[in-house]
Amino acid sequence: MKYTNSLYIRFFQALLLGVLSLTLAASGGCKEENPLTLKQVMNGLEKDMIALNRAVYVQDFAGIEKYARMIAQHPQPMKAQRKKIIKHLDERAERFQGYDLEVHSAALQLADAALAQSPAQISQLALQVQAGCYGCHFEFQKEISALLAEPHAAPEAVPETPAAPEPTPGEATGE
Ligand code: HEC
Repeated sequence: MKYTNSLYIRFFQALLLGVLSLTLAASGGCKEENPLTLKQVMNGLEKDMIALNRAVYVQDFAGIEKYARMIAQHPQPMKAQRKKIIKHLDERAERFQGYDLEVHSAALQLADAALAQSPAQISQLALQVQAGCYGCHFEFQKEISALLAEPHAAPEAVPETPAAPEPTPGEATGE
């Protein structure tokens, strides 16, 4: 029982470390302020994915390696959006980050398969990269898109009620 527990803990530590190092690598160390929105990051991924697919179709191994690495090293969106997403998703955040890790790790393996010029691995891994994109989109895209489109959290809105007109003296007092 103790054994299983510590394995469990180690698994989560490893997962957390992985996510942290990804975040750090993408933000270039401790210096945050990466001004990209998630949408801008995604537009970059879209272009890289199109270029990657083309490279796969024409067996351009150097191109496959290049675009796979670009996808694996895509920048993170700005911290404010990351925080908003994690807070909103709460315990589902792990699934969201899992898709990102899937894209990252499949893309890294794909770059290696391109170096090794291994067609069978390339076809399988290119599909796996795309499965990570699709998976996250079908589960989260609309929801997160709507969340990020919301205006910045405003303080509790107090409805503005127009001041009721003062009753004119002697009128409608019912007496
Ligand atoms: C971890 C989740 C996740 C993964 C993985 C992911 N996306 Fe996205 N993607 C999103 C979310 C969330 C949005 C909505 C962003 C918004 O509307 O602000 C989005 C939006 C997009 C858009 C639409 C952008 C626009 O202009 O509206 C494209 C294109 C896109 N992603 C491509 C990709 C590609 C290609 C991959 C894989 C290489 C990928 N995404 C992987 C979550 C993900």
